Formats: sequence, structure tokens, C-alpha cells
Amino acid sequence: MNTYQNKNIWIIGASTGIGKALAQTLANQGAHVIISARNKEALQDAAKEIKGTPLVKAFDVTDLDAFTKTANDIQTEVTHIDSCILLAGMYDPKLIQDMDIQTAHKIIDVNLKGALNFLYIMLPILNNQNGGQLALTGSVAGYRGLPKGQPYSATKAAIMNLAESLRVEQPNLDIRLISPGFVETPMTDKNDFEMPMVIKPDQAADHIAKGLLSNAYEVHFPKKFTYIMKLIRIIPTGLFFVLSRKMMAQINERSKS
Ligand SMILES: NC(=O)c1ccc[n+]([C@@H]2O[C@H](COP(=O)([O-])OP(=O)(O)OC[C@H]3O[C@@H](n4cnc5c(N)ncnc54)[C@H](OP(=O)(O)O)[C@@H]3O)[C@@H](O)[C@H]2O)c1
Repeated sequence: MNTYQNKNIWIIGASTGIGKALAQTLANQGAHVIISARNKEALQDAAKEIKGTPLVKAFDVTDLDAFTKTANDIQTEVTHIDSCILLAGMYDPKLIQDMDIQTAHKIIDVNLKGALNFLYIMLPILNNQNGGQLALTGSVAGYRGLPKGQPYSATKAAIMNLAESLRVEQPNLDIRLISPGFVETPMTDKNDFEMPMVIKPDQAADHIAKGLLSNAYEVHFPKKFTYIMKLIRIIPTGLFFVLSRKMMAQINERSKS
């Protein structure tokens, strides 16, 4: 894919944040977007801010039957899905000791099981239509086990792993991994710390729009931040623990004050 002009792009997790901004950006570049999330009203509101007439398809990624039905519905309305992008996600920043186990299970359901549902449904569809692009969303939070990020970070590490296997297993499909740094969205509103090198959703959308047209497997941004995180990923584990403990001490200090 080297242009979005007249391409059918399904964005799942498009009622708010990065997904909503991406739908606007791609529609401005000529794409026909299909937008999904659970909240139908929020999607309909988002659709009013998107150029053209986006298809609105509300469903929950954790519900395999609803996911299948939605994909089947879409195929009756568009003949070819050029790209499908899974951005739906859930986050609850806490120390593991403070974790609410029901919320943790829900995060795994949405972020990991939702992604498996996505692959289970979309791989045969894309292969039957002889190709297409499929993008999963990880996070720089998945690069290493950072304090106060679990179980979210664990699901994002799993997504990175999954996308790598898929890239090799599915040579006829255009498999991509989206790895954002900090983006100011409803998801990160709950962060009680200053987010380093945070960007706006429309900036994230520009990075993704460019990245998905390029040949790069991983679309990561903002580069200044993601390269630091990539360096942290490859430093020896002992050194990582020293740095990570210092960060943890700072977090504890801040939460006391
Ligand atoms: N913001 C960041 O700094 C950042 C950094 C790294 C990675 N990411 C990743 O980027 C993606 C988008 O994040 P965001 O910041 O844009 O978050 P967001 O504003 O909270 O958007 C999440 C989207 O996912 C949808 N969603 C949540 N649960 C769903 C479910 N079970 N089924 C279907 N849709 C569901 C939400 O709508 P409904 O509630 O209506 O379903 C919403 O449209 C996520 O995968 C996130 O992990 C974000």
C-alpha cells in the first residue's frame, strides 16, 4: 500500500485518543474508514469529525461472536479490507501489590485475548482476499518490565512477541507493530506522573499514517523517546535493575509527598 486514496481501513479503538485521530488523518488522505469501539454513541460523535462517511461498527473485542459478526457485516459493505489496525486497549497503572485482580484479568482480556480474536478473524479474511495490512499495537512499555506498568506492560510485551511470530508466519500479509511512546489521551489521563516527551493524538496519527505506508515493520514514535527506550531494552539486565530501582524509589518518594 503506497497511498490511502480509496483504501478501506478498519480502525478498532477509534472512539477516542490515537484511533480517533488516526481515522481523521487517514480520511483526510482519501481513505474510507471503518471505525469500531464498544461505545456506539462515542463512535457516532467521532464520525461527525471524520471526512466522508465512515462506517460505524460498535462491538467489544473480547466478544468473539460479536467480532466475527462485525467482520462479516463489513465484508458485505466493502469488497476489500486494505488495512486493519487494532488500537483497542486498556490500562490501569499500579504497583503489582496494589493490583485489582478483576481489572488485571480485564486488561489481559482486552489487550491480549482481544488481539488473538483479531488475528483469528482477520488472518483468513486477508488471506482469502490475497493480502492486506494488519497492524497490532504494542507500546514502549512492553520493551522491559518497568515499575507501575503491570499487567499492561506484560500484555504489550506479549503483543510484540506475537507480531514478530506473525511477521514470519504470514509472509503474504503486511504485518506491522505500532509502538507509541507517551500520547496525551483518555488512557494516559490517569497517569499521576509527568510523561516524558508526550505528544498529542494528531501527532501520533501522523507518525502512524506515514509509518504504515513505509516498509518499516515497527512504527515507533516519537523517535527521540523510543530510541532511549530501545537502548534501555538492550542494556545488561543487572544495569537495568539498578536504574529501574532508582526510578521505583523516585515513584515511591513522589507518592508519599
Ligand atoms: N496513549 C499512550 O500514551 C499510549 C502509549 C503506548 C501505547 N498505547 C496504545 O495505543 C492504543 C490506543 O490508546 P489510546 O491512548 O488512544 O487510548 P484510549 O483513548 O483509551 O482509546 C482506547 C480505544 O479502545 C476502545 N476500546 C477499549 N476497550 C475496548 C474493547 N473491549 N473493545 C473494543 N474497543 C475497546 C475505546 O473505546 P470504548 O471504550 O468505547 O470501547 C477507545 O476507542 C492502545 O492499545 C494503547 O495501549 C497508547
